[in-house]
Amino acid sequence: MRNFLPPLLSLCGFASAQKIKVEALYSQYCSGCHGAKFEGGQGGSLVDGEWKHGSSDTEIFKSIAKGNLQLGMNPWEGVLTDDQIRGLVIFLRENEKKNLAKGMSFPTPSPDKVTKTALENYRIVTLVDKGLKNPWAIAFLPDGRKLVTEKAGQLRFITADGKLDPEIISGTPPVIEHGQGGLMEVAVHPDYAKNGWVYLGLSDGTREKREGGKDEAHCLTAVVRGKIKGHQWTDQEWIYRADPKFRSSAGVHFGTRFVFDKGYIYFVVGERGGLMEVQDLSRPNGKIHRLHDDGRVPADNPFVKTKDAIPGIWSYGHRNPQGLAMDPRDGSLYDTEHGPRGGDELNLIKPGANYGWPVVTLGMNYSGMPMSYPGPGGNEMLSVTEKEGMENPVAYWLPSIAVCGLDFYTGDKFPKWKNDLLVGALAQQEIRRLRIVDKKVVSQEIILKDIGRVRDVAMGPDGLIYVVLNGPDRLARLVPAGTR
Ligand code: HEC
Repeated sequence: MRNFLPPLLSLCGFASAQKIKVEALYSQYCSGCHGAKFEGGQGGSLVDGEWKHGSSDTEIFKSIAKGNLQLGMNPWEGVLTDDQIRGLVIFLRENEKKNLAKGMSFPTPSPDKVTKTALENYRIVTLVDKGLKNPWAIAFLPDGRKLVTEKAGQLRFITADGKLDPEIISGTPPVIEHGQGGLMEVAVHPDYAKNGWVYLGLSDGTREKREGGKDEAHCLTAVVRGKIKGHQWTDQEWIYRADPKFRSSAGVHFGTRFVFDKGYIYFVVGERGGLMEVQDLSRPNGKIHRLHDDGRVPADNPFVKTKDAIPGIWSYGHRNPQGLAMDPRDGSLYDTEHGPRGGDELNLIKPGANYGWPVVTLGMNYSGMPMSYPGPGGNEMLSVTEKEGMENPVAYWLPSIAVCGLDFYTGDKFPKWKNDLLVGALAQQEIRRLRIVDKKVVSQEIILKDIGRVRDVAMGPDGLIYVVLNGPDRLARLVPAGTR
């Protein structure tokens, strides 16, 4: 796992040729024929959704690499590297999406409007539109109440009739709100009615005052459980809290999200900006972990016998998974993870498997340059799109939609969506419905769009679909058209 193949091309000359951003590549090499705004000219429009020479990412890659001299399109292989061509595909996809989205309209939440989708029609009912700040996740109590986390550290009740309880639950553990981190996941134990356990995923660590006024935070994702008596958090037990030496000052990629199954809890510790650390089994970040629901390490975890490995690790090589869900039909575990630009993934999680970050990604750097990482000896290595021994995603999103929140629909209120996977997205402000057959995505549909950044999507015990939104901060639910 730590032996890397040498890069295919010599690094020196190659790396410097790579220091051109994708935007600059396009204007230098392509805009002359395809237009500054991709509108077309001597070559066709690249953003109208029509691809004469094949519309898959692979075919578009081929159109660029091989060209079509008869039609007047130069072959770009040899001039541009594969990574640069791959970057152009991502770039064209992003702009195609922007262009096509202009004509789309989805209803804003209003009790009177019905949204029609391919299989089901629904209305959006806003439950809470005031008083919640950066809500992150939702969980459901058997008495009809809900729990909602706020990123700054507060855990709150939503009453059974859907109103925000003004009284905050006190005594929950302190969180280090830092960058993307804070109080994140909340879930109730499957046997909550008997044992009362509520689990929280949070950014745990320290914040120190530095001279000159700037605080420095050191933190890592942790898991804690407790019970709630009235509005008081009690009986607290840490389920997962790494050695403080693994805390990071980075503000990014905390992960979290829980799945319970057969007495186990699966949870995510995000990459924390650690890049190659996620390939290192002696570090907890960039991993999905599995523990007994009381925090003990299961004896049959894949790395319990591996020297220096953190024994809770279930799978590794993850960047920033913020969706985790189990298929009710066959127990398959899936994550959705934020990739770099153009590399958001849906993965089927297998014990002991390596999901490749940052060695393998389908995305590029946010800067528009190919993705790279510090390899052995600190040499800059370019990421590749696949590699033996590392898992490929089941699906990926190009452009990135910023996946967040994931749940299988198992209820009866939307019968035609039964067992479909609901995928939330922040940047594209969407919920997508994926149909999965035999562990493969066979169709995909956007069922909600443009009402805010979707932080969490979850089916309630009532079979309705709850959506936690950021910007504006809201809690809403989808109800079948024709019902209240
Ligand atoms: C000299 C003019 C010219 C330049 C420069 C050029 N193209 Fe093209 N391109 C064409 C023509 C002509 C076609 C074929 C259009 C057709 O089939 O109608 C084409 C086709 C394509 C297609 C396939 C489109 C489809 O509908 O399937 C893609 C993708 C593409 N170009 C991308 C690029 C990119 C990326 C660059 C820059 C690296 C580039 N082109 C540079 C002229 C050009």
